Amino acid sequence: MRVLVIGSGGREHALCRSLSLDPQVSELHCAPGNAGIAAVATVHPVDATNPADVAGLAQRLHADLVVVGPEAPLVAGVADAVRDVGIPAFGPSQQAAMIEGSKAFAKEIMSAAGVPTARAYTCTTQDEARAALTEFGAPYVVKDDGLAAGKGVVVTDDLDEALAHAEACERVVIEEFLDGPEVSLFALCDGTTAVALQPAQDFKRALDGDRGPNTGGMGAYTPLPWIRDNLSDQVMNEVVHPTINELARRGTPYTGVLYVGLALTAKGPKVIEFNARFGDPETEVVLDRLETPLAGLLLSCATGELGTPKLTYRSGSAVVVIVAAENYPADPVKGDAITGLEPTEHAYVLHAGTAVEDGQIVSNGGRVLAVVGTGPDQASARTNAYELVGKVKMRGSHHRTDIAR
Ligand code: AMP
Ligand code: GLY
Repeated sequence: MRVLVIGSGGREHALCRSLSLDPQVSELHCAPGNAGIAAVATVHPVDATNPADVAGLAQRLHADLVVVGPEAPLVAGVADAVRDVGIPAFGPSQQAAMIEGSKAFAKEIMSAAGVPTARAYTCTTQDEARAALTEFGAPYVVKDDGLAAGKGVVVTDDLDEALAHAEACERVVIEEFLDGPEVSLFALCDGTTAVALQPAQDFKRALDGDRGPNTGGMGAYTPLPWIRDNLSDQVMNEVVHPTINELARRGTPYTGVLYVGLALTAKGPKVIEFNARFGDPETEVVLDRLETPLAGLLLSCATGELGTPKLTYRSGSAVVVIVAAENYPADPVKGDAITGLEPTEHAYVLHAGTAVEDGQIVSNGGRVLAVVGTGPDQASARTNAYELVGKVKMRGSHHRTDIAR
């Protein structure tokens, strides 16, 4: 099978790593990729958000499957363009990807499908925003309606800060605060049916102790020893199946991965957000543990033939720690040299935002590296990840020290 992966982050490196280990994959390509991905796949300089360019590349490569990683290409219609030239694509259509592209649309689908989530108002004026904030009270939750790379959400006790964020965005969703631990669940969907992957937890704040600004994610781990056994089944029944049924009913069936961000509240699991793609960095740990070969699984989703696969996982735990560039998430510094990337026995480095300059690997994004450690239990996986983090050298870099503790 010839597979083309679209994207250039740690998630795409994780996808490429798993696909490169799958004996069914005869050729692996990635566009645009990064310095680390280039070691496991042939990389192509393509604008990932240009549907015609991606479809053209897929045709030239005679790809049997295109896997679209990030949200921006999906929302731009890249998966549609690939399917239009007759090539199976793993990733929702432009319309179905609006489940991530517009928080207001996601709320509308959840309401129509009876999915448990925070009560919310969509607001376009300061008066509406003030009324909604007053009704719900603190802590205030204000979300930019559109795509914001994990940085569009403000959760604060400060009414002025909440109002300022609402003012800065054209349209916001203001919702009730959900109290409880967060869990990320990926459901692989083929348009009509779905299967859950092992849940993970990510750490979204920039600083230790869940302080500092929201980021795309600073680390993650799986499995979650503290959740109930039947949590995935409950979320499939209460969230995933109703959601994909509603999208199919509207004529926009969902193909790809539905990322369900949940808060486990006292009243049961409730949806915090949907994403139209694999979560990053949760993917790095979930795919590390997934034993079932990935290519056939993703292809069966892309062709509407998922069925009811029985997935298997490696025992033990995986922990990923993100090494970020100086000044991430505000305005990350790029171009810093990176060394110390060699794997150890139980840890390895995935590239999240890197490039090669004059033969030297340099930073090229906010989240630069995703360091994965594995072990028989969470504590050992964590130790192995941090041991390798300690060996990586990059001027100005920072990471959280409390991932999976
Ligand atoms: P989102 O981009 O929707 O995932 O939001 C980013 C982060 O903001 C989430 O991971 C939560 O930690 C927090 N958040 C979002 N919505 C809520 C909510 N309704 N209640 C509490 N925290 C929230
Ligand atoms: N890790 C959170 C996300 O991918 O949105």
